[in-house]
Amino acid sequence: MKRIFSGVQPSGNLHLGNYLGAIRNFVALQQDFDCIYCVVDQHAITLWQDPEALRQRTREVTAGYLAAGIDPKTSIIFNQSQVAAHSQLAWVFNCVTRIGWLNRMTQFKDKAGKNRENASSGLYVYPNLMAADILVYKATHVPVGEDQKQHLELTRDIAQKFNNDYGVEYFPIVEPLIQGTATRVMSLRDGSKKMSSSDASDAARINMTDDGDTVAKKIRRATSDSERLPDAAVVGPDGQFTTVFRQARPEAANLLTIFAALTDRDLAAVVAEFEGKGFADFKQALTEVAVARLGPMGDEMKRMVNDSAYVDSVLREGAERAAAIAAPILSEVYDIVGFLRP
Ligand code: TRP
Repeated sequence: MKRIFSGVQPSGNLHLGNYLGAIRNFVALQQDFDCIYCVVDQHAITLWQDPEALRQRTREVTAGYLAAGIDPKTSIIFNQSQVAAHSQLAWVFNCVTRIGWLNRMTQFKDKAGKNRENASSGLYVYPNLMAADILVYKATHVPVGEDQKQHLELTRDIAQKFNNDYGVEYFPIVEPLIQGTATRVMSLRDGSKKMSSSDASDAARINMTDDGDTVAKKIRRATSDSERLPDAAVVGPDGQFTTVFRQARPEAANLLTIFAALTDRDLAAVVAEFEGKGFADFKQALTEVAVARLGPMGDEMKRMVNDSAYVDSVLREGAERAAAIAAPILSEVYDIVGFLRP
């Protein structure tokens, strides 16, 4: 059986990068897989979170999943802390993973910054919890961005070492479904930086909760350059922009990429359509597309966040279904490890 697991941290505003890079794909995968989509609140607190903000953002990510089109009847949507099996399995993995493996994790180095001594130990063992998220459901496929590739390789190593250490063929070796650079969404102010919820300028990103007017205003003000839009020579044989073009005109590359993603069209076709046009015309077209697609989604998210009863009931029901899958797997792991439950 093929089972998808993925998670989004409730630690910042959901933005267009989360939507085009991850959540939109989660929606499509429902066709072919059993899907479990988690709001990973336990991962979020590896960096300090204001409790009220954490509650609010947990609901916001849930509303984002729902507004984007994840169906809570077929897929499972829940927040991590409601299913204790994640942290229970994570403890076992804390004892499987070698410290040397964790020392190689680049995300820890990035997030811990200079003062590593002062980072939480949760941040250090973060990848073990992530492996537990996935393996407690024996998920086979995990859609993630490039930045999570190393964590997924660690998940495979953990599964392998567990199987080896205990002489079992228990955990599957998961396949990453890496969401490529195609939909890497960059800042609207600086096309060489990733769009991020931590950017000090709200104008640098389109939040999933932005209404149509706000989306339109941000696109109008997005950084552009003074040249006309390029011809199809800037699209390589792989269907992506050439590195040369990306580096020379990062804002043009970003806005064209966003247009292609929002309209589900090939980059080459989009480039051909706007070849030789100025930014004013193109931004007008992009605004129409973005407002039509994102405006209603933002409105629905806001409606759901304000009426939290529905969102909370989705999380509660999802957690029950998730726990029912995880419980027998955790129980088998406890037997394999030798935990006595008389
Ligand atoms: N680490 C992921 C991120 O920051 C979130 C995450 C936690 C996750 N557990 C997961 C992703 C399990 C995929 C599968 O984006």
